[in-house]
Amino acid sequence: MLHRVIYASEAVGATGASTLSIAQILGVSERNNRRDHLTSCVMFHQGHILQAIEGGRTDLDRLIRRLLDDPRHTGLRILGDAPINARRIDEPMGLCADPAALLDRLGLNCLSRVTGVEAEVLLDIRKAA
Ligand SMILES: Cc1cc2nc3c(=O)[nH]c(=O)nc-3n(C[C@H](O)[C@H](O)[C@H](O)COP(=O)(O)O)c2cc1C
Repeated sequence: MLHRVIYASEAVGATGASTLSIAQILGVSERNNRRDHLTSCVMFHQGHILQAIEGGRTDLDRLIRRLLDDPRHTGLRILGDAPINARRIDEPMGLCADPAALLDRLGLNCLSRVTGVEAEVLLDIRKAA
């Protein structure tokens, strides 16, 4: 049984704001998620973070525990956690390259109050793009 977890959090320091910080996160995530059969994509926008992760329950829960312990972000809140029939993300760790444009298509200008439903729509738009 596959699940999809979507969470939002707030960046600490330069997390998500510098190429180096993003590359560090993507590098480790790509390696671990491939190992754990997780697929994921992450969006950084003006200090806010949104990530969707798909995979098996045990691997997801293990990753969420690591994410909760990671000082590079704070205020992690789960926006969605539900079983899924099929994955909507097909890579171990994708970066949403143009978050402002994607948010614009949803009529949002900020991720601070994004809901789980809106995050699912963002995934749909991204997959259709
Ligand atoms: C915004 C953000 C997203 C992250 N996403 C993932 C992820 O998808 N997979 C992952 O393994 N680690 C991710 N991490 C890193 C974890 O919090 C943790 O540092 C890492 O999994 C530890 O891996 P290691 O035990 O191999 O050193 C993320 C960190 C941040 C700040």
